[in-house]
Amino acid sequence: MAEAVSEPRSLPLLAAARRAHEAAFGGAAVLAAWAPARVNLIGEHTDYNGGFVLPMALQLGTVLVGCPTQDGTISILTTSAEADEPHRVQFPAPRQGSPLSPGQPRWANYVKGVIQHYRGGPVPGFSAVIASDIPLGGGLSSSAALEVATYTFLQQLCPDDGDLAAKALACQKAEHTFAGMPCGIMDQFISVMGKEGHALLIDCRSLETVLVPLTDANLAVLITNSNVRHTLTGSEYPTRRRQCEEAAAALGKASLRDATMAELEASRSRLAQALQDRDYKTFGRLMVESHNSLRDDYEVSCPELDELVAAALEVDGVYGSRMTGGGFGGCTVTLLEAGAAERAQHHIKEKYSGTATFYLTKPSGGAKVLPL
Ligand code: ADP
Ligand code: GAL
Repeated sequence: MAEAVSEPRSLPLLAAARRAHEAAFGGAAVLAAWAPARVNLIGEHTDYNGGFVLPMALQLGTVLVGCPTQDGTISILTTSAEADEPHRVQFPAPRQGSPLSPGQPRWANYVKGVIQHYRGGPVPGFSAVIASDIPLGGGLSSSAALEVATYTFLQQLCPDDGDLAAKALACQKAEHTFAGMPCGIMDQFISVMGKEGHALLIDCRSLETVLVPLTDANLAVLITNSNVRHTLTGSEYPTRRRQCEEAAAALGKASLRDATMAELEASRSRLAQALQDRDYKTFGRLMVESHNSLRDDYEVSCPELDELVAAALEVDGVYGSRMTGGGFGGCTVTLLEAGAAERAQHHIKEKYSGTATFYLTKPSGGAKVLPL
């Protein structure tokens, strides 16, 4: 059944990463950082339109451990079997006039991009190992977790000014320029700013945030991984983003958020308010409306996600369910009575034509330094 991710899971990951560092580089790691995955409760494809999102950080995350070296070389190993080969890379630390550039393997681009856009520095040579318990490419933002863990690691090697919003923006820039994915700010922002026991309402234009408590013991958030990822993803996300920008330009607006300002402002307060008031029925209804609109108007869902949502909604005690993240596969998020979680998983498993995996997780804190 569900992997109940209720305890901080960074410690076993940390131990594995330290062992791998010793084995790969012949010396102990002296610095370590961890950054979380995320699930978004509502507000999809709105971040790059300057709108509102309501994600929470998960207890699933990515650890990066390492050690400075004297030779100006950066050597990195990932222990994630799903990453493309080779799993170990080496390149010179960037210097004025010789910046890093993206290449192969693809996974290393997330790390290189963050090093290149790091706001402190110059970054010295170092060895590092990456270990993660987030499914890679599963829509829970393993990529942002890797970027933010890398940035948090660099902050110990050669501190920046500690500005958190600027940190998230630098990680987003890394994803744009090195991974070629024109993502919004949601994933990096929540991975940096997550607060235990809270979801975070983010105004993606002003980057102002409101913490929304999510500590009701009778409430559970069930993440269901469809374990499919349609290849369209690569081209569809950038296309959607461009279409939104074109639509906004045609309307003479800076972003689509301006097109329906009054409605958006109203929905913002409705959203956070429903959760804050523990009015889960209303929030659940909004989740379902959101899914239907992502499926029918925005066309970023897929049959597998629709199946998972439909199955979840048949279960007594489920308030709402929807696709979460970019779409075209990945995960759904379901808000339900804690007592209905077992039942829901059984039912979804039975109904789903594919193989689903489940995560029951509490809102976690954002990225942190792990003491060694
Ligand atoms: P998501 O961010 O939703 O998991 P993406 O496709 O945007 O999905 O990003 C996944 C990619 O990020 C992986 O294919 C890999 O290149 C990189 N990645 C994420 N985590 C790791 C990791 N622990 N080790 C190596 N690469 C990783
Ligand atoms: C993610 C992307 C986010 C956001 C989301 C959809 O994959 O990284 O920035 O746009 O899709 O809400």
